[in-house]
Amino acid sequence: MSTSRIPGFYKLSVQERLSRVKDFAHLDDESLKNIRKRALSVEQADRMIENAIGIMEIPLGIAINFLINGKDYLIPMATEEPSVIAAASNAAKIARDKGGFSVSTTEPLMIGQIQMMCETPEEAKSAILGAKEEILMLANEQNPTLVKFGGGAKDVEVRIIETSMGKMVVTHLIVDCRDAMGANAVNTMCEAVAPLIEKLTSGKVYLRILSNLAVKRLARAKAIFSKEALGGEMVVDGIIIAQRFAESDVYRAATHNKGIMNGISAVALATGNDSRAIEASAHAYASFSGRYRPLTTYEKNEDGDLVGAIEVPIAVGTVGGATKVHPTAIANMKILGAKTASELAEVMASAGLAQNLAALKALSTEGIQRGHMSLHARNIAAMAGATGDAIDEVARIMVKEGKIRVDRAKEVLEELSKRG
Ligand code: MEV
Repeated sequence: MSTSRIPGFYKLSVQERLSRVKDFAHLDDESLKNIRKRALSVEQADRMIENAIGIMEIPLGIAINFLINGKDYLIPMATEEPSVIAAASNAAKIARDKGGFSVSTTEPLMIGQIQMMCETPEEAKSAILGAKEEILMLANEQNPTLVKFGGGAKDVEVRIIETSMGKMVVTHLIVDCRDAMGANAVNTMCEAVAPLIEKLTSGKVYLRILSNLAVKRLARAKAIFSKEALGGEMVVDGIIIAQRFAESDVYRAATHNKGIMNGISAVALATGNDSRAIEASAHAYASFSGRYRPLTTYEKNEDGDLVGAIEVPIAVGTVGGATKVHPTAIANMKILGAKTASELAEVMASAGLAQNLAALKALSTEGIQRGHMSLHARNIAAMAGATGDAIDEVARIMVKEGKIRVDRAKEVLEELSKRG
């Protein structure tokens, strides 16, 4: 079996990296082409969205070293932010020493909401719950394919909520979406059962829409990060102190969770999934207890190693939507080799945990700016006109001097060219 542990991957040329990825994932020529060159045509873009005028490109990279439930993964990540992919790869390398990430998911259950107002909310609730089987049957008639694959509407729950306009009766349709993200399937079912709910209650239905708070579709990942690989006991303690900060302070928790989403959203984007749905879900879940909290936890075990864990709702699909339309997303799914939406969610949870561990490690030791700056310096060097090896040399000199500016990059470039 191929390994995702590829020492020196970052030092290879783009072409060499792609060739390693090709060997790992047995990629066909079509997929290679769709990764290397712009794959989405303007015509396709015009069919995907309205008022299309072109295509906006984002860098695509590969996070290495991930061992998840004993399986090696190369993880495609689409992001405009430097350091994200290096950070995830470094944390995955540390986790690997102790067996990598252990992951699991709940069933892929989504919630559809049907909002209703009526004179007698309690009676309406009983009537809806009394007609559960009829509601489920009507919902499932909308999507025989999903039912055939073992999914479909599975349950009905009713909540009565207090609002500034009085009580509202909110019916939740619980739908097993299998390998689909499920927004379309759930919305169609909600719209189909709404007239029945009105008939059962003499109420008036308003919204019929999926909830992006996917509390029944959770992904979990856990890993042990050894104190030796982290850099010692002080680093373990530093990460735990950072964790306690996030647990007690919403300002820090928001940033902590943003770092987690750097990993999760980059995989969502690379695989053509709805990153906004995942972000909304994660942040709402973070405040589900009534207080906004970090999505990860960290504890020290009896060996003094750090045990990190994440629990986060991840509603993704491997069928439907852009996942099966965008040629690069299709190729990225081949690299990832995730067979189901649950497996994809487990990989994403691992990427989120890795990202967070790397951020906390950097923040509680040297800070994140040094790592950021060397990448930033390479960009500045290129902006100043450096090409090839000169980019690294100009960047190295600027970082050493602590002067990362285009004017300085131009001077250094001139000095280098004089030296020949
Ligand atoms: C930057 O994109 C993400 C971090 O701010 C996350 C964190 O502070 O934990 C580094």
